[in-house]
Amino acid sequence: MSNNGNIVTMKEIERVYYKPDGSVLVNALRGVDLNVPAGQSLAIMGPSGSGKSTLMNILGCLDQPTAGSFTIAGKDVSSFDDAELSLVRGQQIGFVFQSFNLIPQLTIEENVEVPLFYRRVKASKRKIEATAMLERVGLGDRMGHKPSELSGGQQQRAAIARALVTNPSILLADEPTGNLDSQTGEDILQLFDEMNKEGLTIMVVTHDNEVGQRCDRTIHLLDGLIDRDTQNG
Ligand SMILES: Nc1ncnc2c1ncn2[C@@H]1O[C@H](COP(=O)(O)OP(=O)(O)OP(=O)(O)O)[C@@H](O)[C@H]1O
Ligand SMILES: [Mg+2]
Repeated sequence: MSNNGNIVTMKEIERVYYKPDGSVLVNALRGVDLNVPAGQSLAIMGPSGSGKSTLMNILGCLDQPTAGSFTIAGKDVSSFDDAELSLVRGQQIGFVFQSFNLIPQLTIEENVEVPLFYRRVKASKRKIEATAMLERVGLGDRMGHKPSELSGGQQQRAAIARALVTNPSILLADEPTGNLDSQTGEDILQLFDEMNKEGLTIMVVTHDNEVGQRCDRTIHLLDGLIDRDTQNG
């Protein structure tokens, strides 16, 4: 990895949301400097409205900063257009959301195949890779089930399999245990720990101090700035 082992380098990142007339509505990020070493697990915390989701959207190449420079996996994406950004997104990043976002009409296995389908992986290979990933997350015996036939924790594990089946270098998770009971949430966090030990960089938005403590590092946002940056351990 370039940039001295950092998989993410942000300098003076700003994100202004504008009104339709072009005047400033909100300064959601006001100059964020953030370096994330490859392989780190990072918790992003802070009060509602502090800029966590805005930061995650930029990290995930779903949105672009209005000022500042941003490098991810060795690519300076600050000046990328939508097509270039979506390529980086597809190659480097997996997403897990609070509400699992599985497609209800498809089986779990088909859901996990979706990102491979978009990458034009052929059917036989899709099946092999989806099956292997589902076995990895402990759902080898549930592959033909629809999401509604699974528990919340199983659905979240399927969503994690879908996020990781393309072998991304970064996993971004926005409140991944927010809708789960504590034991089921614990299972998900253990799965994250395992993946992180294998080298996956994980960035997770959470309101839960315990989840934050389990990560290598916690940043607290306040009013669009990093207010505290703590190494845990
Ligand atoms: N699309 C948007 N258009 C205009 N303003 C926005 C938009 N998205 C977010 N904001 C504003 O930017 C600021 C940061 O919002 P953001 O969603 O990043 O906060 P958050 O830390 O994720 O909060 P929460 O914990 O409630 O999810 C808030 O003031 C919000 O109102
Ligand atoms: Mg948010």
